[in-house]
Amino acid sequence: MCGIVGYIGSKQALPILIKGLHRLEYRGYDSAGVAILDGGLKLYKTKGKVSHLENFVKDKNTKGTIGIAHTRWATHGEPNNINAHPHFSRSKNLAIIHNGIIENYASLKEELIKRGYTFTSDTDTEVLIHLIEDIKISEKVELEEAVRIALSQVVGAYAIVIISEDEPDTLIGARKGSPLVIGIGNGDFYIASDATPIAEYTKDVVYLNDKEIVIIKRDKELKIRTIENKDKTPYIQKLELNLSALEKEGFDHFMLKEIYEQPHSILDSMRGRLNVKEGSIRLGGISDYEQKMANAKRIIIVACGTSWHAGLVGEYLFEDLARIPVEVEYASEFRYRNPIINEDDIVIAISQSGETADTLAAIELAKSKGATIIGICNVVGSSIARATHAGSFTHAGPEIGVASTKAFTAQVTILTLMALRFAQMKGTIEKSRFYQLINELEAIPEKVKETLSIEVQIKELARMFTYTRNFLYLGRGYNFPVALEGALKLKEISYIHAEGYPAAEMKHGPIALIDREMPIVVIATYRGAYEKVISNIQEIKARKGKIIAIVTKGDKTVKELADYVIEIPETEEMLVPLLATIPLQLLSYHIAVMRDCNVDQPRNLAKSVTVE
Ligand code: AGP
Repeated sequence: MCGIVGYIGSKQALPILIKGLHRLEYRGYDSAGVAILDGGLKLYKTKGKVSHLENFVKDKNTKGTIGIAHTRWATHGEPNNINAHPHFSRSKNLAIIHNGIIENYASLKEELIKRGYTFTSDTDTEVLIHLIEDIKISEKVELEEAVRIALSQVVGAYAIVIISEDEPDTLIGARKGSPLVIGIGNGDFYIASDATPIAEYTKDVVYLNDKEIVIIKRDKELKIRTIENKDKTPYIQKLELNLSALEKEGFDHFMLKEIYEQPHSILDSMRGRLNVKEGSIRLGGISDYEQKMANAKRIIIVACGTSWHAGLVGEYLFEDLARIPVEVEYASEFRYRNPIINEDDIVIAISQSGETADTLAAIELAKSKGATIIGICNVVGSSIARATHAGSFTHAGPEIGVASTKAFTAQVTILTLMALRFAQMKGTIEKSRFYQLINELEAIPEKVKETLSIEVQIKELARMFTYTRNFLYLGRGYNFPVALEGALKLKEISYIHAEGYPAAEMKHGPIALIDREMPIVVIATYRGAYEKVISNIQEIKARKGKIIAIVTKGDKTVKELADYVIEIPETEEMLVPLLATIPLQLLSYHIAVMRDCNVDQPRNLAKSVTVE
């Protein structure tokens, strides 16, 4: 939530900062702003998207070579020009950008008001910059020391960057709980919430750790200090980020591009890990822990949103194949409900961004109780990836559309590989069955490609249901998480109310909603509870609901009952989520486009939820 970017060097800062904000816009898009040192500290900010800011600053002729910029997802104070970042200090000598929440802002603000400070915005951020300036003046210390003292008084999460009119060759950044990456170029430095604004300028990056402050001076070496005042040596890493992955490459939206990338992203998540000829699965990132995982008495999966849905598929896979008991927990509930966590528990944290605040807090809690923490993350270098003992990256490539698509299928692929590996290690699967499953898993990317060819049909369907107000999604077994995921996708990008339910639970309540206006998407693929799902379809039909069925290619029975059918290729029951999710992603996408919704940046949402 909120994207921050800064630059210092020999180039004009403004274009670099605006381009950086466009890359970070997935993190928040209700207002944006920039501060540049150009003679004095020039500050421009507007409500709305980065493109509004871009237009606003077009004729400002701001030539400065040092600056900071911000794209906001509002927490404290409504989205407007005043609450947009950057925020000035009282003297207007300092400006700050901030991602996160200062939890004790009210008490700090009260103190500052007593000391004569007045506030122009409703933000917690303005409190922090006043506090820093107050400390700088009253304690007569350098800016970097004032930042350090101020941060030692702050409770909450932050990634900040500060610019000062008095120090035109310095940027100061700091983080706790929210990410910050520094790019080291040739005579210039970049600082941002993630590496996407940096990638085209340099591959040398330093990921700042929690409670660290970075002092970036023009033409000087980077300096890192902790809030406890210890010097740290910057650890420079090489960035691996393909720039084309950050562009739409001819697609109308990132979401559509990412849906179409799935044959590749699933393959990439298996690459070098699945060897069908040898009958082996190697997950290098967890090799030191796989014995412990396979023998675990219990695995707890923590995640949020779509990643939680992937976790639910994981539960079915681990229990089904490897006979390991699994609990799947919403990270936000887990962290606050005093859960029982034992030292021999394995906690798997699933997160695309690797920055979700609740998931991170759940990890810290489980760690403090001595559990082993395994990550399944997409973003290399992210906070969650670094907080875990070990893990497997999904390698799905950058996911920019706020609605998660390729990350979900990549997460499910990793969970499938893990479950199969543990089953093989424990001997809970027959050799021939193991071979059957890995052969079928290897065939999935081609089958995803085949599934994508139904887009034209889905578009027609979307046209028929564009203005429907409610949807129900039903599935059983492995298809229950798919129903949840289908409903979430529709809600978040088209703003249509949708509910996902286990098909058999329908008769315990939701059946009352069914009438001839209600479309019900039923995932009714072969195997598993196929016959039972047919009975559920009959129950819907008897109440005149409109049935949209996702069926296995060649199915005749459901075809006769349903109003509309979408065929997907046949596969193993436990691999169906990797295929059945695709038409549901496409359906949500096309309905949202037809409703003229902003598909990649839906209202009120942000891609990485770094506040609780
Ligand atoms: C999915 O489409 C959502 N945008 C959201 O539910 C997301 O999956 C959730 O916020 C978790 O994010 P993470 O995977 O980055 O932790």
